[in-house]
Amino acid sequence: MRRLASGVSIITTAENGERHGMAATSVCSVSADPPTLLVCVNRTATTHAIIGRAGFFCVNLLAETDDDLARRFSSATERATRFDGREWTTLVTAAPALIGSLASFDCEVMQKIDVDSHTVFIGRVTAIELWRERIVPLVYLDGRFDTLRGAAEDA
Ligand SMILES: Cc1cc2nc3c(=O)[nH]c(=O)nc-3n(C[C@H](O)[C@H](O)[C@H](O)COP(=O)(O)O)c2cc1C
Repeated sequence: MRRLASGVSIITTAENGERHGMAATSVCSVSADPPTLLVCVNRTATTHAIIGRAGFFCVNLLAETDDDLARRFSSATERATRFDGREWTTLVTAAPALIGSLASFDCEVMQKIDVDSHTVFIGRVTAIELWRERIVPLVYLDGRFDTLRGAAEDA
């Protein structure tokens, strides 16, 4: 799995006015029309049960400079301060959308499939926000954060 290069996202949700979120690389486009995507969430993650109850989540695609945010959203000790220091809003659902990310996909859960340690949540996209023109993603490979700046500049 360390050889699988992936974009990095923050998956968020909310319950009783409280925001929750975690870093994730297991995010995949399923269908373009209607727009549908999936996320794979470990059952041990705090966010797992909340997505299950709330029935919605937002996928925020991280940009090259967001590695600090990815670290914070994957560190249990920083759970209470994960949303600090950045601007968040909401789109259709109550899930936090990260202003300044590459894109936010607000989703309603349409199906969930339990697979061993993880649940695959399939989300119907209810809103999309493209926050920036320049698309240079944060990527994760072999346990390290990197960027695709070269590829973006060639485009
Ligand atoms: C780059 C990166 C990618 C990750 N991808 C996933 C993922 O796709 N699914 C998952 O369940 N956990 C993933 N994790 C682990 C969670 O972010 C981490 O366990 C997080 O602390 C869970 O949230 P919690 O502390 O609120 O339980 C990833 C962590 C990192 C650093």
